[in-house]
This record gives sequence, structure tokens and C-alpha cells, in this order.
Amino acid sequence: MSSSHHLVTGATSGIGLELATHLLADPASRLVVGARRPEAAAALRALASPDRLVILPLDLASLASTAAFAGAVVRHLAGDKLASFAANAGLQITGPCRLTADGYEETFQANFLGHAVLIERLLPHLAPAAPVALTASGTHDPAIRAARMFGFRGGLFVGADRVAKGDLDPAAAVTQQGLDRYATSKLCAILHVYALARRAAAGGPRFIAFDPGLMPGTGLARERSALERWAWSNVLPALARAMPGASTVRQSATAYAKILAGRAFPGGTGLHVDFTLAEAPSSRDSRREDWQDDLLRFVERVALER
Ligand SMILES: NC(=O)c1ccc[n+]([C@@H]2O[C@H](COP(=O)([O-])OP(=O)(O)OC[C@H]3O[C@@H](n4cnc5c(N)ncnc54)[C@H](OP(=O)(O)O)[C@@H]3O)[C@@H](O)[C@H]2O)c1
Repeated sequence: MSSSHHLVTGATSGIGLELATHLLADPASRLVVGARRPEAAAALRALASPDRLVILPLDLASLASTAAFAGAVVRHLAGDKLASFAANAGLQITGPCRLTADGYEETFQANFLGHAVLIERLLPHLAPAAPVALTASGTHDPAIRAARMFGFRGGLFVGADRVAKGDLDPAAAVTQQGLDRYATSKLCAILHVYALARRAAAGGPRFIAFDPGLMPGTGLARERSALERWAWSNVLPALARAMPGASTVRQSATAYAKILAGRAFPGGTGLHVDFTLAEAPSSRDSRREDWQDDLLRFVERVALER
């Protein structure tokens, strides 16, 4: 019998919550979710009964929590395999650099490193050809005009060790450094998808970077000023309809669910795709195999340490 367990992070709000709704619409599917505060995930919990939806504690900004979550997922599977994994959780910090208890910059760890370590741990528990999708973003690419309009200037990969500390461009203004760290965490996700696809054995899990487009109104702006949060939720959703590269949570989650169910890009790996379900070019930097290898070595080292 084929596996029916999907694993999603960041399913308490935004695109992740909508994605959970789509996946659970198939009565045969079951969902495992990692959430910082499972007890507060009321909207998610309301989607299905506990026999189909399990919410386990996960703080991606903590390696201890990430390792404990991986162990709990494996115990929950009880020998079954995961049908898919959506590494979707993410945050944007526009204030000063914050280091986690593990000593890494928080955006890097929560958006990228935590997920990368989870992938290492869960690889043996993924079904053959299971899609592993990492939520990416056009902000990684300096050539994307819509991202530049919001102040992003692309990911700045300055070597895995420096990126992990958030040490990208210390001369830039604090807000710019925050935007750079976010864009860089997404560049890391895409570099990693390509690296994992090159490392993977034939018939193993497949790796896809999914760009959901601009989806104003989600919780992503929660660390912005009150005015920016208001505009993000009340003005931008209407304006975005006319913007290139803009989507909605519903449209992007529909596309995401098709990828996870293997109905889009069946057999595809090492891909960067967008919410229209088209393969999309990622930045020139993301194609640097030396950077991909640097990042993969970094992840393997961190995963081994835990
Ligand atoms: N909105 C856009 O325009 C846009 C565009 C491109 C890419 N994306 C990406 O889409 C993904 C989802 O974002 P969204 O827009 O839907 O925003 P959102 O509504 O804020 O959702 C973010 C999710 O990530 C979770 N999360 C954040 N930090 C976490 C941590 N340390 N550990 C575990 N979970 C954590 C949040 O959980 P809590 O409930 O605990 O806060 C929430 O469920 C992100 O990767 C984001 O970068 C968004």
C-alpha cells in the first residue's frame, strides 16, 4: 500500500494552513505537522480529527527541538514512510541580527538549517520518489523586479560559515541586512535542493524548490511596523492583483498540494518551480555547484553533531 503521511512545517497560518486544508481534502491522506505551539494551533486542529492530523512541537530555530521532532515523527510513523515533506515554515526579521541558542542567525536557522537537518534525519523514512519541497522565494534573485520593489537585492552567499552567522554585509542598514538574510535563506534553500538532487540515489526522494509568489496578507509581516503590517494585510492584497509574480494563498497552496501528491512534476527532481506550476529559472548564483557543495557539507556537519 502506498504511504499516505504528508509532513508539513509552518501549517499554523498562511500558505501552510491552506496547504494542510488541500492535503486533508483527500480522505486517504494523513498529516503530520510541526508547530512551535501545538496547543495554539486551533485553526489547523479544526481541519481534521486526531487520527488524520497530528501536531507535534517543533521550533526550527532550535537544533534540540528539531532533533526531538524528527524522533517524534519517526515514532509516529511506526515503520510507515512519508509520502511527502513540505519544508514551508519561515519568518522575516527586519530588526537587528538575532543569534539562536545554537549560535546561528535566526532567519538562517529557522528558514533553512532546521529544515535541512530534518531532511537529513528523515531521509530513511521517506517513501521512494517522495517529493521533498522547500518553500523558496523570488527574493533570492536580484533579477526579480517585484522583489526589488520591496527592497530585496537577492541572496548574498558569502560562504556557509558566514551566512550561518548572519554576517552578510555589515556595512548595510539594519533593515537591509534583515532583508538580505531572508533572501539569502531562500537562496540557501534553492542551492540545497540542487545539491540534494545531485547527491540522491536513483529512485530516492525528489527535491523541489517551490516559489509561491508574492502572497500579501499572510503572517510573514508580523515583525514589521504596525503601518507596514496594516498595508500588508489591507492594501497589498488588492494591489498585488496587478503585480507580476503575485499570487494568493489559495492559488499557491493548490499548486503546492499537486506537487506533494505527485500530480505535478512526477519524477522531477532538482527543480525550481513556481505557483503556476511552471519550471522557473532560479538565479545565476543558485547554480553555483561550489556553493551548493559548501552548504551541503555545512548541513551534513551540523546534522552529524546532533
Ligand atoms: N507571503 C509571501 O509573500 C511569501 C512569498 C514567498 C515565500 N514565502 C514563504 O512562504 C512560507 C510561509 O510563509 P507565509 O507567508 O505563509 O507566512 P506565515 O503566515 O507567517 O506562516 C509562517 C509559518 O512558519 C511558522 N514558523 C515560523 N518560525 C518558525 C519556527 N522557528 N519554528 C517552527 N515554525 C515556524 C509559523 O508558525 P507560528 O504559528 O509558530 O508563528 C507559521 O506557521 C515561508 O517560508 C515564507 O518565507 C512567503
